[in-house]
Amino acid sequence: MFVGTFKETVDGESRVAISPESCKKLSNLGYTILIEKDAGVNSSFSNLSYESAGAKLIDNKFDIINQVDILLSVTSIPDDKIIEKSKQNLIIVGTFDTYENYKTLQSLAIKKINVISLDLLPRISRAQSMDVLSSQANLAGYKAVILASNLFKKAFPMMMTAAGTIIPAKCLVLGAGVAGLQAIATAKRLGCVVTAFDVRPEVEEQVKSLGAKFIKVDNSDSTVQENSVYAKEMTEEYKLKQKAKIHDSAKDMDIIITTAMIPGKKAPILIENKTIREMKLGSVIIDLAGASGGNTEGVKFGKEIKIDDVVINSPTNLPSLVSFDASSLYSKNIFNFITSFLDDRKSFDINSDDELLTKTIIIKNGVKTENFLKENKNV
Ligand code: NAI
Repeated sequence: MFVGTFKETVDGESRVAISPESCKKLSNLGYTILIEKDAGVNSSFSNLSYESAGAKLIDNKFDIINQVDILLSVTSIPDDKIIEKSKQNLIIVGTFDTYENYKTLQSLAIKKINVISLDLLPRISRAQSMDVLSSQANLAGYKAVILASNLFKKAFPMMMTAAGTIIPAKCLVLGAGVAGLQAIATAKRLGCVVTAFDVRPEVEEQVKSLGAKFIKVDNSDSTVQENSVYAKEMTEEYKLKQKAKIHDSAKDMDIIITTAMIPGKKAPILIENKTIREMKLGSVIIDLAGASGGNTEGVKFGKEIKIDDVVINSPTNLPSLVSFDASSLYSKNIFNFITSFLDDRKSFDINSDDELLTKTIIIKNGVKTENFLKENKNV
């Protein structure tokens, strides 16, 4: 079996799908690994480190695609000219937003290839070690706070100096899932006074255990959230109460990190214009939910705007800014996924009926599956 990876081609993407460490593990299993030259340089993995891990470095994408059985990717999708040269039954594994990449993915069906998109993995315990969304969102939560600290004109921690005392920054985190909990932990470590809010009541304990305060919204007459890793949409009545609570808290904050999302839905607007206009000059909002519309009114995905001197930044790809760790974790996720589907001959069992495969495969033998356009962000 031959496994390969290309240098990512999407703008601003510094990650690579396979690290030298995972190369070595695959090589120990008997695979031949083909890596496009310089594929890892933006993640600080040298060509030499791949060669030392047993991989072959190749200059040309065509010389990789015509040999590999499995192609690993972060988000880049090879074009038709490259796919034309692929082996039949090629398996491509990566994270391909079917909504954003509809046309490009559709054109892959020129050959009987298979495409697996790991962002569709169900968040169940068995899949935790393969969960690319979690490994990347965790780093995004960390980096969001670092980005906020760079944009903020004051210091985060309390400092007592001979010249006077600097008061600690106040940080609000909205949505305490994977990214949110890491944002809370990072802001705490940097000395902020942190408050957080989430519609799932069970995260209150986790928020408090990180040393943050939890905003509670009375939910006696509203939708009950099941104990789940994902939130459900709330009633209009609840949303109004929530908006009022968040408004009261947000207007006194220096930093707001928003991470609220409901899978397949447009992100809920939690910070309204009227709140922004009451915030302190120089406050910073980092909106992580920009790809699904954002949690902040008027936010522009991938842009930084200012409303009344409040900075609102909606980054597109924070994991790429921590590319060494992001690639290392992503590569472990992908290794764990692949190796759980190997048959006796160490070939990937593309016909397995395990839900980890049936829910992530978007093209099977050149035919789009029902997962192909399951995501509808209604943006
Ligand atoms: P998650 O599903 O683990 O967490 C989302 C949280 O939002 C959940 O705890 C949910 O209960 C909460 N939530 C839903 N509706 C809410 C509401 N109305 N009010 C308050 N909380 C609400 O998701 P994860 O993995 O933490 O990702 C969070 C967001 O960050 C997603 O939109 C994801 O796409 C984005 N992201 C952005 C990155 C970037 O570089 N821009 C990188 C990674 C993730």
